[in-house]
Amino acid sequence: MIARAHDNDVLVGALAGKKVHAERHVAAGVDIVIAQGHEAGGHTGDIATMVLVPEVVDAIAPVPVLAAGGIGNGRQVAASLALGAQGVWCGSVWLTTTEAETHPVVKDKFLAAGSSDTLRSRSRTGKPARQLRSAWTDEWEGENSPGTLPMPLQPMLIGAASRRIDRAAMNPSNTGAVELANYFVGQVVGQLNESISATRVVEEMISEYLDVMERFEQLNA
Ligand SMILES: Cc1cc2nc3c(=O)[nH]c(=O)nc-3n(C[C@H](O)[C@H](O)[C@H](O)COP(=O)(O)O)c2cc1C
Repeated sequence: MIARAHDNDVLVGALAGKKVHAERHVAAGVDIVIAQGHEAGGHTGDIATMVLVPEVVDAIAPVPVLAAGGIGNGRQVAASLALGAQGVWCGSVWLTTTEAETHPVVKDKFLAAGSSDTLRSRSRTGKPARQLRSAWTDEWEGENSPGTLPMPLQPMLIGAASRRIDRAAMNPSNTGAVELANYFVGQVVGQLNESISATRVVEEMISEYLDVMERFEQLNA
């Protein structure tokens, strides 16, 4: 796949949650590594972005690294560049934008959630994936849980139920479904408190990043 991409002048990026993943990607011919820390939404490892990014940057230089996991504002972008990343890669921050196709009940839950309201659970895919804690994750993590199946069996097991829950949760009187509804999201959910457009997210990121640069210049003066 990598050779075919390169034959067509297409660069290849790949996610890494550990230094060794990044080294293997580079050995396989990957052009850009996304170093994604523990706090990220979706499948994620054990090492926090703050520690992972410089470790990966040093291990695979001069291959460019994008920082991911917990990046949703301009201060976090500035911090990522300070850690040696050439740019950032964001996921969760888009999920509450006005354009996002996030389930409306889940979007409201995200807007109300704090940074402690996510957990890594195997209950959606069979692999540890960060998502919003809900009655769904509580049941799967609870004492009476039968335990999850490995990927790809868990998504096959829960697919139909999950679609039914999402459909039922569209009606607020289906309180059980509303309690169960959840989705992948990172710890950065705690700072997503209003639904704004993707354009505004980017504009605010840039303006906050520029404020940080100004602050750094003053420190140097
Ligand atoms: C809803 C959702 C779905 C995701 N799906 C994938 C995926 O299919 N493949 C992948 O490599 N990463 C996936 N990710 C991880 C993102 O690519 C990204 O690395 C991560 O969201 C960055 O951390 P953040 O959520 O704190 O911004 C997903 C993340 C979220 C939130």
